[in-house]
Amino acid sequence: MGESMRGEENSIPAAAPAPFVIDVEFVEEEIISPEPQEVGQAQIREPLDLPRAAPTPKGRARVVTVINQKGGVAKTTTVINVAAHLAIQGVKVLVIDCDAQGNCATGYGIDKSRINYGTRTLMVSPEDAIRARHATAIENLHLIVADRKLVGIEEELISQLGRERRLAEGIEILLPHYDLILIDTPPSLGLVSINALVASDAVVIPVQTEYFALEGLALLSSTIREIRRRLNPKLGVDAVILTMHAPTLLNGQVASQVRETFPDLVLDPPIRRNIRIAEAPSHGTPIHIHAPKSAGGQDYLHLSNSLMKLWNFGEDNG
Ligand SMILES: Nc1ncnc2c1ncn2[C@@H]1O[C@H](COP(=O)(O)OP(=O)(O)OP(=O)(O)O)[C@@H](O)[C@H]1O
Ligand SMILES: [Mg+2]
Repeated sequence: MGESMRGEENSIPAAAPAPFVIDVEFVEEEIISPEPQEVGQAQIREPLDLPRAAPTPKGRARVVTVINQKGGVAKTTTVINVAAHLAIQGVKVLVIDCDAQGNCATGYGIDKSRINYGTRTLMVSPEDAIRARHATAIENLHLIVADRKLVGIEEELISQLGRERRLAEGIEILLPHYDLILIDTPPSLGLVSINALVASDAVVIPVQTEYFALEGLALLSSTIREIRRRLNPKLGVDAVILTMHAPTLLNGQVASQVRETFPDLVLDPPIRRNIRIAEAPSHGTPIHIHAPKSAGGQDYLHLSNSLMKLWNFGEDNG
C-alpha cells in the first residue's frame, strides 16, 4: 500500500522549488530597530475614549445594542443568554434580532420560516410594531425575529428621509412594555447597525480575546462618537465583555490589552470558551437551561448578574 502510494506520488510532476533566500542583514536590522513594534503597540493600546451611558428614566425600557463589526465574537450568544437569564429573574425583556442570519430565533428554538412579521416590519411599517413580537418558551422574554427578508432593507431605505431612525420609531410604542430591549446586530456597521445605535441608550461590546481582537474597535468607537454627535446624543457604553476566553498566554495578553484600551468598561467575568455554549443553540435553548452548571453556564450567569446590577434591575423584578 505504502509502496504503491509512493509510486503515485512519483508520477506527479514536482513543483519548481521556491527560491530560499534569507537576507541575514535585513532580518537583523528589523529586530534591532524598535520602531515598528512601538508604532503598532501605540496604535492599539491608546485608550479609546468612550462615554458611559446615562441611567434610563423610569417607566421605559433600557435599549441596549450588542455590537462589534467583527464576525463570530459571540454577539448573538451573549444576547440569547443574557436576555434569557434576565427574563428568568423576572425582568421583562424584548430581543430584537437585526441580523438577517436570524440566529436568535434558532437559539430560542423558534422556527423563523413560519413568521410573517419581524424586524423588517418594525423598520418598514412601525405602526405594526406590536404584532412583530413573538413569545418564546421563556416567560417574560419576547423576540422580534430577523430573517432573510431583512436582506435588501438598506437599499430599500436608502432614498428615504430619516432612514437612520426607522428602528427608533418602530420601538417607540414598545418602550413602556419592557424593562430591557436587547438588540443583536450583524457583523457590519451598515445602515441596520446604525439604526440600532440610533435607537439605543447604550452598547455592550463583546470582544473575543484572540489576536486581531482590537483591530477595528477604533472604527467602532469613532462610529459611536459620530452617532452621539449627529444622531443620538445619549448613546454611551455600558460594558465591554471578554468572550471565548481560554487560559493561554495569548488570551491573557489580549485580555489585558482590552482592559487598557477600555479602562473601567470591561465587565467581569470573562466568558470562557466552552463547548456547552456552542452546542446549546442546536437544542434551541439558552445555556442556563441547556447546561447551567457548565463553565459557560456559570460565566453567563455571573455576567448576567453583573449586568442586572449595572442596569439596576433589582429584586422588585422577581
Ligand atoms: N464561550 C464560547 N465557547 C465556545 N463557543 C462559543 C462561545 N461563544 C460563542 N461560541 C460559538 O462561536 C460561534 C460564534 O458565536 P456567535 O454566533 O454568538 O457570534 P456573533 O458575533 O453573533 O457572530 P456574527 O458576527 O456572525 O453574528 C457560534 O458557533 C457560537 O456557538
Ligand atoms: Mg450574530
